[in-house]
Amino acid sequence: VPVSSFDFVVFGGTGDLAVRKLLPALYLRDRDKQLTADSRILLVSRSKESVAEIAERARAHIPDDLFDDGAWKSFLDRTQHFALDAAHDAGWAEFENALKPRSDVVRVFYLATAPDLFGPISARLKTHELITPNSRIVLEKPIGRDLASARAINEAVGAVFAEHQIFRIDHYLGKETVQNLLALRFANSLFESLWNRGSVDHVQITVAESIGVGTRAGYYDKSGALRDMVQNHLLQLLCLVAMEPPTQMHQDTVRDEKLKVLRALKPITPDQLGACTVRGQYRAGAIDGAGVPGYIEDLGGAVSRTETFVAIRAEVETWRWGGVPFYLRTGKRLAERTSEIVIQFRPVPHNIFAADAGPIQPNRLIIRLQPNEGIELQLMSKDPGPGGMRIKPTNLNLSFAEAFKIRYADAYERLLMDVVRGNSTLFMRRDEVEAAWTWIEPILEGWTRDDAPPKPYQAGTWGPAASIALIERDGRTWDDDG
Ligand code: BG6
Repeated sequence: VPVSSFDFVVFGGTGDLAVRKLLPALYLRDRDKQLTADSRILLVSRSKESVAEIAERARAHIPDDLFDDGAWKSFLDRTQHFALDAAHDAGWAEFENALKPRSDVVRVFYLATAPDLFGPISARLKTHELITPNSRIVLEKPIGRDLASARAINEAVGAVFAEHQIFRIDHYLGKETVQNLLALRFANSLFESLWNRGSVDHVQITVAESIGVGTRAGYYDKSGALRDMVQNHLLQLLCLVAMEPPTQMHQDTVRDEKLKVLRALKPITPDQLGACTVRGQYRAGAIDGAGVPGYIEDLGGAVSRTETFVAIRAEVETWRWGGVPFYLRTGKRLAERTSEIVIQFRPVPHNIFAADAGPIQPNRLIIRLQPNEGIELQLMSKDPGPGGMRIKPTNLNLSFAEAFKIRYADAYERLLMDVVRGNSTLFMRRDEVEAAWTWIEPILEGWTRDDAPPKPYQAGTWGPAASIALIERDGRTWDDDG
């Protein structure tokens, strides 16, 4: 179904995100006929690249089987580039002239820039009278680097745009499998009565990456895994697992419930930092048999205490979840790229089988977010055969690739169209971002005060040994081979 006609402006229009994600996503929506004939893409950046040059770089991020020459040409026909410095007033005339005559269409300003430009660009859009009632602004994460800077950005952007016009993107919410969490929880009655402290022993959320920091070392070294991944993606996943059922699938009801979870996160006090958090930094190692350098080498040899791995033991202080640990972990250069949520249920209350029947493992529901998207339920069953009663774990396995033989759209495809439609259900509200920072900040502060450097781990492993100790101290294990 086509969305309304739009002018889609990308500040940072020749940057990494625009080239890798935004342009391919808009092209794919265009190819599938979701863009009206008059909709336009306006890329803004300081560099003087031509559309053809930008397009060539973006082309490399579109899989060959989704590429169509004709569709690509007509997509480029609707794309323009404006070389201007968003931080200064000069050079805006041509850009203004392009936008102003079309005051009736949806206008999207996507800020794929450093967060310190969010406020100044918003102010400049206002001075140049480019904000229409039909305008929306999209803010890429990170929204600030702590609570105060996030508040300042929210204030500055909020002085110009109304909250319903502000779309704070967390691309994890656009992933099909993440949205499927809502379907799993709220379109099935099966798990409903089990989804609480009475039946759930603990929850694990893992977002493991095998890539290193690549070309983003400059940004990453100032950020680190806690700000880059936990403050947003992992906490959003935790919210979807832990939230109460919203009364309807509406932008504010869903976000109200997520907010309650963020506010119920038990603060990690300075004396609990050692027991509840682990930070690590990768050293040289091997991934898939190929040697890879360590983080410091990736940075070019500078000294750095930035963490590339985090594990945290969190708790949600609510009636539903009191006492149930949520173990979170994420890192770069880990053994494999895999993101999953594990709900581990409580053990059976009493074992009726003989000692030689084998141990009874607690049931686990595993939601595989990527890759091999699907849902797995680990059950105990009888080992078939005449050898007597032996019990072993078996899996009920739902593979989405087999169940639904369609391509999974990239998260940005879904989210960019939601922006045009004005649907902010899958975007973060101001209060959510600030609540997330409120919980994260004491951890950051504690780490800064703490004199110890992050714990080293070899690339291609599951992180520092302390991460395994974090969960094993509670008599539990991570769901992997690490
Ligand atoms: C981004 C982070 O938000 O998410 C990156 O800044 C990370 O560091 C990326 O690599 C992971 O996203 P995905 O979709 O590949 O899991």
